[in-house]
Amino acid sequence: MDFGKILNELAAHAREHIGKGKVATYIPALARVPADKFGMALCTLDGTIHRVGDSDERFSIQSISKVFTLSLAIGQVGDELWRRVGREPSGNRFNSLVQLEYEHGIPRNPFINAGALVICDVLLSQLPKPKEALRDYMRVLSGSFDIDYDEEVARSEAETGFINRALCNFLKGNGNLTNEVDAVLDLYFHQCALAMSCTELARATLHLANRGFSPLLQETLLTEAQTKRLNAMMLTCGTYDAVGEFAYRIGLPAKSGVGGGIIAVLPGEYAVTVWSPELDRSGNSLAGGAALEYLTLVTGKSIF
Ligand code: DON
Repeated sequence: MDFGKILNELAAHAREHIGKGKVATYIPALARVPADKFGMALCTLDGTIHRVGDSDERFSIQSISKVFTLSLAIGQVGDELWRRVGREPSGNRFNSLVQLEYEHGIPRNPFINAGALVICDVLLSQLPKPKEALRDYMRVLSGSFDIDYDEEVARSEAETGFINRALCNFLKGNGNLTNEVDAVLDLYFHQCALAMSCTELARATLHLANRGFSPLLQETLLTEAQTKRLNAMMLTCGTYDAVGEFAYRIGLPAKSGVGGGIIAVLPGEYAVTVWSPELDRSGNSLAGGAALEYLTLVTGKSIF
């Protein structure tokens, strides 16, 4: 498969969508990112990276980080985690308060905000320095040792994170948070503010395409069962309230973020990351979704 040629073709096709979506503005630091950026990186299991466009420019990974905090939490507490958070798609906005009230403080899944906040709580309880641990995990997985938090984005999130604070207080009031609300929010705002490029994210995700074994690190990072479950979670909960549409159009386990990034894997073949800041109505990258759809159509391969 000539992925180099395919990426060039699909970038041209995907760029036609730029100008038709909206950059996330509810976090002021994100609103300043140029809307016409487009990058993509695809890493095959032998470690070869194919790139196009702004693939080496770092962006705010936002909710993509939820895949990696979940991996860390599962490594710490295993299946105990599922007593505090569910595994079903939410069918609601990612920061919905209503659903959390109906469901007595047990978030639907770890990829909506309430679930991610519970994961932060687990990491705070289990790790002496969770912020450093997460940053170092991303550095090792990607092989880029200068990856860091964008403190301006983290501050911007904190200044505007009223709904996340409400979610945290609600979780605490329902006995589903052990640590202080401020500490949980600080870790959450920082994980969202990790700055990484498409190339770095594709490398960091490669083990999910290879049954948990990283060909780059030559190390088992997750068991086969954990990898299967994480990929299932991405397929069913990874793209907000558009998971059905994503499965239908693209057919790959994927996780998106409001910074315009999307990671996806084709197990046994590759990990891919695309970045284009303009979002569609459900909060997923518009050109990014188009690029992934084109990728699975022209290669004729998806998980289905
Ligand atoms: O919690 C927020 O508002 C954002 N930092 C969430 C990031 C995101 O990509 C959407 N998440 N589910």
